[in-house]
Amino acid sequence: ISEYKICIFGSGGVGKSCLTMQFVQGIFMPKYDPTIEDVYKKTVEIDEKQYSLEILDTAGTEEFSAMRDLYVKNGQGFVLVYSITSRATFNDLQGYYDRIMRVKDTEINGQPPLILVGNKSDLEDERVVGREVGQALARKWKCTFLETSAKDHASVDQVFFDLVRQINRL
Ligand code: GTP
Ligand code: MG
Repeated sequence: ISEYKICIFGSGGVGKSCLTMQFVQGIFMPKYDPTIEDVYKKTVEIDEKQYSLEILDTAGTEEFSAMRDLYVKNGQGFVLVYSITSRATFNDLQGYYDRIMRVKDTEINGQPPLILVGNKSDLEDERVVGREVGQALARKWKCTFLETSAKDHASVDQVFFDLVRQINRL
């Protein structure tokens, strides 16, 4: 059984914990409870193989720290999440991306498995970040892009399945 470590980054309130909870436990928490730091484990079968995933759910409000660099060092796959209802959370992601690239020394190692996620796709009425805007950033970063709804459990599992497949391709 392969063990993969996945880190989830993004601004406060974009739905990192809800995405993780939906994937791991199949539940949605409507009440906002800011994360300090949580690690979730789940064993999944993907393409007829078993995987033990360790998902690190980080705090969106925290500044970059030595701790965070350690997570990046240990992480094998990265989920970068914004909310389609907030342009600021979309703009914030470049900072996370640059940090991951620096810590992983991508000039030497190449880009690590990474997926860009626009969450809260159920809130179409409140959308301010167009799907094509997300797609354009993913093209620039040469990574996968998905819009998800942690509330409706839409495309949530695909995020983690895609990352596992990317890690397998390394
Ligand atoms: P921090 O831990 O502070 O970094 O935030 P977070 O990114 O973990 O956000 P969290 O998952 O706690 O969700 C924040 C709020 O958004 C909560 O009230 C959630 O119920 C809500 N939320 C999360 N995902 C969705 C979604 O897909 N749709 C809708 N409508 N609300 C969501
Ligand atoms: Mg959280």
